[in-house]
Amino acid sequence: MSEDFPVRVDQRGAVAIWTIDREERRNSLSRGTLLALGKLSREAASNDSIRAIVVTGAGTKAFCAGADLKERQGMSENDVRRQIELYRSELRPLEASPKPVVAAINGVALGGGFELAILCDLRVAAPHAELALPETGLGIIPGAGGTQRLPRIVGEARAKEMILTGRRLNAAEALAWGLVNRVSPAGVDVVDDTIAFLEPIASGAPIAQAAALEAIDRSFDVSLAHGLELEKVSYDKTLVSEDRREALAAFAEKRKPRFTGR
Ligand code: COA
Repeated sequence: MSEDFPVRVDQRGAVAIWTIDREERRNSLSRGTLLALGKLSREAASNDSIRAIVVTGAGTKAFCAGADLKERQGMSENDVRRQIELYRSELRPLEASPKPVVAAINGVALGGGFELAILCDLRVAAPHAELALPETGLGIIPGAGGTQRLPRIVGEARAKEMILTGRRLNAAEALAWGLVNRVSPAGVDVVDDTIAFLEPIASGAPIAQAAALEAIDRSFDVSLAHGLELEKVSYDKTLVSEDRREALAAFAEKRKPRFTGR
């Protein structure tokens, strides 16, 4: 691990894999980790060799144990405010990524680590993974979007249950709640499983995927009528793409399309 840049970067085919590499602190989010994730997300947005991004944690115990509580011990109230601001500025580019982002949850996802997982587009969990927002038990509330994003994923009642009780959900419960898209089979590495799950995305049409993410993500802030207008704007971006013409040609020629992202 390097504290200067505590995120390991790998690439498998068109999929970038970003591993928070702080196992001895259970991959918790230090200032350096947030800055590294922000930098990688900004760079990936314009890197054509990346079609999708997997975010995971080193080892099998923790995806991410949330805020780095050791780092936080030495912080003043204003330092904590600045750190919370850093969650917003450095994790927002990941959430707004035009490329699909998947959390491969390899162990516990707690607090800010859980919030990191829910700002990704999709989630795949190892069977031993556990997910929780323990903040209210620590006298605070989720500060990296948990109170806003969780109800949108699981509904108000379940979000309030998680936030007020702080109880840990196991992977099977998280799947039943629609909080994770998939639980990996026992004995299969969750990152390998995520890459296999991602195959249709990694070989898919990038402009269409970015337009779909944009249309869905915008829908939460607007009326249905306005959302349908926004969908039209996103649809238009696909209409002029070479990939759309390639898909039609491939259908006519009874072959698989070869998408180039143009
Ligand atoms: N920040 C900094 N260090 C952390 C950490 C965190 N959020 N979570 C764990 N660590 C450190 C521990 O202090 C310990 O360090 P030490 O060896 O110097 O004592 C090391 O990681 C291993 O922790 P341990 O508790 O022994 O590992 P575990 O695998 O049995 O349990 C957790 C892992 C994550 C379940 C447990 O450490 C935990 O509950 N951590 C706090 C999570 C939390 O409350 N996060 C904040 C939410 S707002």
